Amino acid sequence: MAKRIVVAIDGPAGAGKSTVARRLAGRLGFLYIDSGAMYRAVGLWALRAGIDLADAHRLSQLAAGAAIQLESGSSRVLLNGEDVTEAIRTPEVSQAASRVSTFAGVRQAMVAGQRRMAEQSSVVMEGRDIGSVVFPEAEIKIFLDADPAVRAERRLLENAGKGEPMDRAAVSREMRQRDERDRTRAEAPLVQAPDAVYLDSTSMTIDEVVEAILRLVRERTANGEGIAT
Ligand code: DC
Repeated sequence: MAKRIVVAIDGPAGAGKSTVARRLAGRLGFLYIDSGAMYRAVGLWALRAGIDLADAHRLSQLAAGAAIQLESGSSRVLLNGEDVTEAIRTPEVSQAASRVSTFAGVRQAMVAGQRRMAEQSSVVMEGRDIGSVVFPEAEIKIFLDADPAVRAERRLLENAGKGEPMDRAAVSREMRQRDERDRTRAEAPLVQAPDAVYLDSTSMTIDEVVEAILRLVRERTANGEGIAT
């Protein structure tokens, strides 16, 4: 029987995880899963519902009741049937996602959903705790990092490309705050799993990062033989 493979990519904001994970999934024929989009969807719902972002109990209930669908091909994100692909990308939702993700109850609901998604096919999943908590047995674990200044620059370019220019200082500040919270929280903080490969993408192109991970996948899977897509 073909074996299902998990490629886990963790790292701070702006390290290039989404672009790399999406391309890698395309090359391998695996499902691409953006776990951060799930925390963003919960953050968005909490903001809209006016829930206090420090209320662990209500946020956990909300997360447990959220129907979140990630469409692999289109990368569309649906929350309770509504397309929230664009709505979850605002700086306000980034912060809300980081805040709601500190609570164990919220994380439990998201992790259960993430594990379910990987039951049917091989996946490339990116986030903060994929190699450390969600799939500690993942075949390939990458910790993707880059200089903070370069990460902020990439986020600026990304937003400018979408016609949403942002203030450089504000972007740097937002990323710093979020990374600090994500790294220091008690529940599943952003850490490099002991068996993860550290990749510093500061002076690498997207293609170079993708190729480096592909080489690793081939090495660890005997050239991809017997892998389920
Ligand atoms: O990857 P992202 O920037 O879209 O994630 C948004 C927030 O969600 C991030 O600041 C922390 C949280 N998150 C998490 O706690 N665990 C994950 N696996 C993915 C994201």
